[in-house]
Amino acid sequence: MTEQLNEVMTLRLSAINYLARNTWAFTFEDPAGNLLPAAEPGSHVAVVLPNGLTRQYSLLESSNSLTQRSYVIGVKLDPQSRGGSRYMHETMRVGDLVQVGVPRNNFPLNEDAAHTVLVAGGIGITPILCMARRLKELGQSPRIYYSCRDRVDVAFTEELKSFEHALIHVDAETNAFLNIADIVQREGQDAHFYCCGPGPMLVAFEAACAALPPEQIHVEYFTAKQEAALDGNFVVELRKSRKTLTVPQGKTILGVVREAGVPVSYSCEEGVCGACEVRVLEGQPDHRDAILSEPEKAASKTMIICCSGCKGDRLVLDL
Ligand code: FES
Repeated sequence: MTEQLNEVMTLRLSAINYLARNTWAFTFEDPAGNLLPAAEPGSHVAVVLPNGLTRQYSLLESSNSLTQRSYVIGVKLDPQSRGGSRYMHETMRVGDLVQVGVPRNNFPLNEDAAHTVLVAGGIGITPILCMARRLKELGQSPRIYYSCRDRVDVAFTEELKSFEHALIHVDAETNAFLNIADIVQREGQDAHFYCCGPGPMLVAFEAACAALPPEQIHVEYFTAKQEAALDGNFVVELRKSRKTLTVPQGKTILGVVREAGVPVSYSCEEGVCGACEVRVLEGQPDHRDAILSEPEKAASKTMIICCSGCKGDRLVLDL
């Protein structure tokens, strides 16, 4: 995958630490010791690996611009890895220089909610713990539900004990998955619910929260939620570039824009990182991403052009 991000830094991998089975924390710092752009809870960074792949990883620590000295990400070795986590685990060494994108946040934390429920599955604990740490710092007491397949997969066991309400669910010990519908019912209608984990968990979470107001439901996807729109046969007018392009069947808007040589930011090409979000000036997008909320999709002020298409025959974009 080729990477084209607007803002990328060269950072040094300064530490690798064990978290759980096949799960390591990677710490990146500026080689000259400079402060880094601040990261809010829920943020992720794109890591551009020397093998040409780009991967998005949530940050474990948030900070402000006066104190952000490093970025720490958690990476679980995926047995099906196409080269991302495998490369991180097998090839990366402390001291390596790596291109890292500035933090982006598609999973923001509402720090003013009266009650917060955080649900994590596996490596999804990374942004969830980052949020929990922040809420604790603010004197709040979030409910944490953390599910893993096996006991050896559980990370941060000691730290989680320091939270008032942290439940660790081990599938193998209960012969059952975490019952998210139960949690949502128990925690009440006023809570803000957050979930990061494997696809089936996110689907169960969204189904369990379906009756709640959308602004109380917060989900972080790391793989495509839907198939990209590839029907094509529409026109895209790029207002700033003064170009009109035809999107044929089988191609994405991003692909066509790139072929036309128009500079555009992108990274995951799966509708999960938000790097390719563009303002929509006219037309009705066919949203297929995991970034925009349902109200945002309905308003269609922006769209994610690596995977979304067009419901009519013409879109005008602010590109
Ligand atoms: S490139 Fe990541 S959402 Fe489009």
